[in-house]
This record gives sequence, structure tokens and C-alpha cells, in this order.
Amino acid sequence: MVEEALARSFDGIGEEYDRFRPGFPRQAADAVLPESVGAVLDLGAGTGKFTELLIDRAARVIAVEPSAMMREVLRRKLPEVDGAPGTAEDIPLESSSVDAVCVAQAFHWFDRDAASAEIARVLVSGGTLGLIWNRADPACAWDLACHRIAHPAVADVDDTAASADELPGFELVAHTEVRWTEQITRADYLRRWGTVSSFLVAPAEERAALFAALEAVLDGAEETRDREVLDLPHLTDVYRYRRA
Ligand SMILES: C[S@@+](CC[C@H](N)C(=O)[O-])C[C@H]1O[C@@H](n2cnc3c(N)ncnc32)[C@H](O)[C@@H]1O
Repeated sequence: MVEEALARSFDGIGEEYDRFRPGFPRQAADAVLPESVGAVLDLGAGTGKFTELLIDRAARVIAVEPSAMMREVLRRKLPEVDGAPGTAEDIPLESSSVDAVCVAQAFHWFDRDAASAEIARVLVSGGTLGLIWNRADPACAWDLACHRIAHPAVADVDDTAASADELPGFELVAHTEVRWTEQITRADYLRRWGTVSSFLVAPAEERAALFAALEAVLDGAEETRDREVLDLPHLTDVYRYRRA
């Protein structure tokens, strides 16, 4: 069940989200679209962090995103993309109008059945759906500890797999896992957490306590203590489906 307040928490940020959230490796886009297509939709596109990898893979790139602040950043960054307000449950496109749909870091916010039906409607027969998530590398104890602070209910659950196994109207074709490492300053790592839904909805006092807990993790771990720049490993999961 998607919690509405958390799903809407992105309405109020754009610039900070774009500046501090991680991007995606090119191999993730390769895994969804190994060859270029006519039209691709990035659904829940945010500020365009995944959309930018689609530009040279489709003749037309469309980005649908409910938050006006997110869309404004995307419009400035990627003027060649057709940005539109809308949601996954009510996609503002004609039936059978796109060859592929990508959803990066957003499918878990959607009403699963309604979104699956809408995605199937806008895709051509046999079209591609790619669900993409960055997640913490379980081998990185300090980052995992920070995830547990931010998302105590889900940090030990592979929620991407739960969101992505069987989808009505789709056949899973491939699951690809991409490992990559990002160099990030400690300050930016902390600011990144400030763009996460649980921090965005927390009252100021609770937010301060969450940041203090994160600082304690970074001060305690050997890999991060007294370091200005951190090596942060990521795993990117890509689930590629075909419209049945
Ligand atoms: C974590 S952000 C991911 C943004 C972007 N895809 C990325 O990877 O950077 C989740 C996005 O999903 C959007 N979103 C939330 N509920 C949605 C819905 N029902 N339909 C479409 N987008 C939604 C939010 O506005 C937000 O931009």
C-alpha cells in the first residue's frame, strides 16, 4: 500500500533532488533498450536523471511527472524532451503510442494494478517496460546502517523485487544487476538523505535526530571516519518486461 504523504513528498523539491540524488549507470539503460526505438516514455521521471540516458536511444523521448518543481528542472536540463504533467495511473498519452516505458526509482510509489494497466495501454503490442532501482550494496555496512535509519521498516527487505516480480499483462524477460561506485563528499552524502521521503515529511526535531544518527554512523565506521570523500557502492536492478 503506497502512503500518499510519502508519495507526495517530492512535490516540494526539484533542485536539491537533482543535485544530490544519484544518477544511473549507462548499462542500466542498455539493459532496457539495447537498440534504439521510435518513442520512449519515462514515467515518474523526476528531474530527468534516467531520462537523460534515453535521449540517444529514441527518436522521441516523453517524460511524465506529477511534480511541477521536478518537471521544471527537467525542462531546463533536457529541452529536447516532451515533458507532461500526469501520473502512472492516468498517463496523458494515446493508446499504443510508445515502444518502451521506463520507470526509474518510482514504480513502488504507483498503484501497481492501475499503473500496469495504463502502461500496457500506452505501449505497442510486444513493447518494452523497464523497471529500474538503485539500491544499497548489502556488503557496505555503513551505507546499510544509514538506510536502516532512514527506512527502518524496509531496509532489510528487497522491496524492489517485491514490486517487480509478476506484473499483470507483462512477461519478465530479464533481470540485470549493475554494480558501480560513486565518489561523494560526506557533506553531499548527508544532504542526499535530506531529499529522501522519510526526511522530507519528518518534523524539524525528528529530522535533526535522523541527521545526528547518520553522522554517528559515519564517525563510527573505519571506511568513513575523518574522510571528506567517500567511496559509495551502488547496485542498480533492471527488470525488463515485454507487454504480453
Ligand atoms: C524517487 S523519485 C524518482 C525520480 C526519477 N525517476 C529518478 O530516478 O531520479 C520518484 C518520482 O515518482 C513520482 N511519482 C510519485 N507518485 C507517482 C505516480 N503515481 N505517478 C507518476 N509519478 C509519481 C514523484 O513525483 C517523483 O518524481
